[in-house]
Amino acid sequence: MEPTGLHVAIIMDGNGRWAQARGLPRVAGHRAGVEAVRRVVRAAPALGISTLTLYAFSADNWQRPQPEVTILMRLVHEYLLTETHPWAAHGIRVSVIGRRDRLSRGLREVIEAAEVATGQGGALHLRLAVDYSAREAIFRAACRFYKVTELSRDSFARVLGEVNHDGAADVDLLIRTGGEQRLSDFLLWESAYAELIFTPRMWPEFGAEDLDEAIAEFRARERRFGRVPDAAAGCGQRATQ
Ligand code: FPP
Repeated sequence: MEPTGLHVAIIMDGNGRWAQARGLPRVAGHRAGVEAVRRVVRAAPALGISTLTLYAFSADNWQRPQPEVTILMRLVHEYLLTETHPWAAHGIRVSVIGRRDRLSRGLREVIEAAEVATGQGGALHLRLAVDYSAREAIFRAACRFYKVTELSRDSFARVLGEVNHDGAADVDLLIRTGGEQRLSDFLLWESAYAELIFTPRMWPEFGAEDLDEAIAEFRARERRFGRVPDAAAGCGQRATQ
């Protein structure tokens, strides 16, 4: 059963700039980024997060220099290998969204093993987006959708979930680190009503306190989903888009 807390999605940007500012190679930033991943995964359940989706590698990231691509894939591989047992022990269920046909066989096997070993976890659903593109996923879902007889947004979301390998749950809060303010082809369908937070902090510096602050800001916002504010609802106003 899917847990019922917040779904937080994070675009983990700024690894390269963090490293370069310290005279280090970009890959040092990615390694430090893995430590930030560990910090937010540890902190998430206590902050009321039940689903955490992290953008680890976009479909467009294949265009980076080959050594950087190799390191990023290796980091994801090592992270899954080392964390699978602790995740299983702490009730963390992991799954990977995105295309799998362009990943190495070794990585695909590690992903499948981690998903099986942690499948019963109920404390947190951790989703890693690897070779992920929201447009590609929506396009693939549209290509499959013609076979579906029930034409509704819910049934389209189900097909999109199959394409993603793991559902298409709505995002409550989307955070992007690193100072840029764009979505970079991440969870475009699922973020239709997400609250967005852009922080200048570089991903390797991001920690539990930053996540806590972002959640506090999220909770202070009024989510209206196209409706009027609660206070105005009794004043004869009509719902708008
Ligand atoms: C963007 O920073 C970050 C990425 C493309 C990769 C994110 C990967 C990790 C945090 C490590 C591996 C992930 C896991 C889950 C083990 P950038 O390098 O584009 O930053 P820049 O904009 O400063 O160049």
